Amino acid sequence: MSGSIVLFGPPGAGKGTQAGRIVDLTGKPQVSTGDMLRTAVKAGTKMGAEAKVYMDAGLLVPDSVIIGLIEERLTQSDAVNGVLFDGFPRTIPQAESLANIAVVESVISIEVPDDAIVERIVGRRMDPETGDIYHITFNPAPSEIESRLIQRKDDTEETVRARLEAYHTQTAPLATWYSERGLLISIDGNQPIDQVGDAVEDAVRTTMSV
Ligand code: AP5
Repeated sequence: MSGSIVLFGPPGAGKGTQAGRIVDLTGKPQVSTGDMLRTAVKAGTKMGAEAKVYMDAGLLVPDSVIIGLIEERLTQSDAVNGVLFDGFPRTIPQAESLANIAVVESVISIEVPDDAIVERIVGRRMDPETGDIYHITFNPAPSEIESRLIQRKDDTEETVRARLEAYHTQTAPLATWYSERGLLISIDGNQPIDQVGDAVEDAVRTTMSV
């Protein structure tokens, strides 16, 4: 089982929420380009400063930056048996570059309508100590950690609308691209978190012979 898995879907679909289950099931490390970019922003690197401008506006960071990050990440030893990509690829050029450097065995698409996305993203809260993801209504944090939760800077209604537009114009066409290659499996993401998780797990078991 040396191939990689791609978790695909619009912003707020639940990719980060479900990633842990796939990591537990497969042992593959999670590679989230959003997390890698936020780490670079926090570290104050030149690349982070450049990426921040795009992220704050809800736009995609240029392909050359993202592909460079992924090429470097895949040289690390834990990537040798494939990884779980979360939020990558997001454009057809990114998918084409990925196809040259790694084998993608399964693309799991979590489908959620736009009207549910805004509520999910605006209500999201993150635990900066553990990286755990919560929602003020759908997945409340335990009261003892509530005071340390943070809200992502790009989780405003205005930025979500820009992110959704970028998704529909630049990322959604990838579903067809992967479907034509027989790799896409779609999941209804508009159901409770545990049910989405069960469907994701079934998809991994079916396509990856876990
Ligand atoms: P990134 O961090 O990847 O953000 P995103 O794709 O917009 O995805 P999110 O993290 O917002 O959502 P998610 O699907 O992980 O949902 P979550 O599980 O948190 O990217 C940020 C930015 O970086 C981009 O805008 C871009 O600028 C840049 N970038 C990153 N990768 C790039 C790339 N490859 N190319 C170019 N630019 C790139 O869930 C959301 C909320 O919903 C949570 O509160 C959760 O509790 C709740 N929730 C989850 N599931 C359910 C459910 N079933 N029912 C109810 N609530 C739920």
